Amino acid sequence: MTDLNQLQAELTARAAAGGNLAELEALRLEALGKSGSISELLKSLGRMSPDERREQGPLINGLRDAVATAIAARKAELEAAELDARLAGEHVDLTLPPPPERRGHVHPTMQVLDEMIAIFAELGFALAEGPDIEDDFHNFTALNFPPKHPAREMHDTFWLPEDARGERKLLRTHTSPVQVRVMQRTNEALPSWVANGQAPPIRVIVPGRVYRSDSDATHTPMFHQMEGLVIDRAIHMGHLKWTLETFCRRFFETEAVVTRFRPHHFPFTEPSAEMDVQCDRSGGSIKIGEGSDWLEILGGGMVHPTVLRNCGLAPDEWQGFAFGLGIDRLGALKYGMPDLRDMFSGDVRWIDHYGFSAFAAPNPATGLS
Ligand code: DAH
Repeated sequence: MTDLNQLQAELTARAAAGGNLAELEALRLEALGKSGSISELLKSLGRMSPDERREQGPLINGLRDAVATAIAARKAELEAAELDARLAGEHVDLTLPPPPERRGHVHPTMQVLDEMIAIFAELGFALAEGPDIEDDFHNFTALNFPPKHPAREMHDTFWLPEDARGERKLLRTHTSPVQVRVMQRTNEALPSWVANGQAPPIRVIVPGRVYRSDSDATHTPMFHQMEGLVIDRAIHMGHLKWTLETFCRRFFETEAVVTRFRPHHFPFTEPSAEMDVQCDRSGGSIKIGEGSDWLEILGGGMVHPTVLRNCGLAPDEWQGFAFGLGIDRLGALKYGMPDLRDMFSGDVRWIDHYGFSAFAAPNPATGLS
């Protein structure tokens, strides 16, 4: 009994006098460690008679709790003192310059996409989207590509392996299939904030990734297109021309843009046209709004009656225009990027150079930063 009291007095006094955390830990091991003095006492309980154990048990347990508490209390004191000492010794020099910070950049494609969306939003276009993995019907058939027609080969399609139902899906070769999904109103699976599927009048733009088995300085196997679709009762080529010219002036930030329409063929439009912008190539780079060269930048036309019919719209009631443009290619043109493949190489040096600040001042032409 006296022994236990004495041991408690001694151990708690040593705990209270502990000069540092290491000393305290040594004390804890000595008393409460695996073969510490108190642990040995606890083990001895097993060898006692029941009566003896009933008497000694609470005393030894009390001893253990008292010593553990004393050690913990001193430990807390020492830790607090250590923190105080560290805080007292540490200074933050607010006059030092901040360490250099690595900043991310907005990818030119995303920057250009934001600019385009802002321009078309102002013209009253809503945004629609569709899936990257398409079927033959949406990518080709509904768009009036005849079966087995060579035009299907024009696109160097990436075909997926046959699925369980014997169907071969594909990576969409253009954003035009979303025209079909919007007109057919079969795009409900997509998020509700996109204008996916609506009865006419329709006025949508459709940005997205497209894929073709093609790679050189002006072609990458994945690139971005933007589709435009306007369907109403009396929409005509004049509306298409005005819309695209207005877009070009805003996008290239000059009123001096001169455009021309050249007849062309697309299965899904009739008549079809390609639009060129006048440019100057003399200085090794292309300048829009001057010079006497022409550069093709997009395709468009009046939506083919067969396409309307395939999408459940009566061609004698509804008509409209569609167009498609390459987002990366227009971006490369506007911001002077010579090789499209660099855009998707993932090289940080490239994006540091060509990327945009997320915090830039707003562009007066587009209101975007
Ligand atoms: N889908 C065409 C392509 O990828 C671009 C295009 C041309 C889209 C004319 C259209 C259009 O909507 O009317 O080459």
